[in-house]
Amino acid sequence: MQRMTGMPSTGKSASSEDHLTQFMTASHRHLDQVFSNLLGALEVNAPDVRELWTELDHGLAAHMEAEERYVLPVFARVDPDEAVALLREHGEIRQQLLELGVAVDLHSIRFEQSRRFIAALRAHADREDRLLYRWADERLDRSLIAAAHHHLTAR
Ligand SMILES: [Fe+2]
Ligand SMILES: [Fe+2]
Repeated sequence: MQRMTGMPSTGKSASSEDHLTQFMTASHRHLDQVFSNLLGALEVNAPDVRELWTELDHGLAAHMEAEERYVLPVFARVDPDEAVALLREHGEIRQQLLELGVAVDLHSIRFEQSRRFIAALRAHADREDRLLYRWADERLDRSLIAAAHHHLTAR
């Protein structure tokens, strides 16, 4: 089995795949943890800095792509303003990721920069949890939920 990106390897399968809220919030928590590990590794100049960075970068990309491909297009027909706001936040997260990537390369990540990033990630996660994910679990076609799950786990 391929290694999961953006998802913890819980060994759970069938049931958690059916609930978008469950696997997406697990992915948020996992990415949050990877970022903390990355900060810890940077602090002591550990050899796994690059690996943790790749895990964060790829995991976040897969997570946002899954939302953009399988969830947000249908949600946008129901609540276009919220869908656009979430997409805008994805843009901001991607921009911050680019800046962080440079800082990681230079080993010059600033406290304020990492604080801002984690705050943006958490605020975005809370926002999705309150509306988008609840809506998806109630209304989104099961095949799209399965496709989002597959996108998170199959890379
Ligand atoms: Fe998102
Ligand atoms: Fe998300």
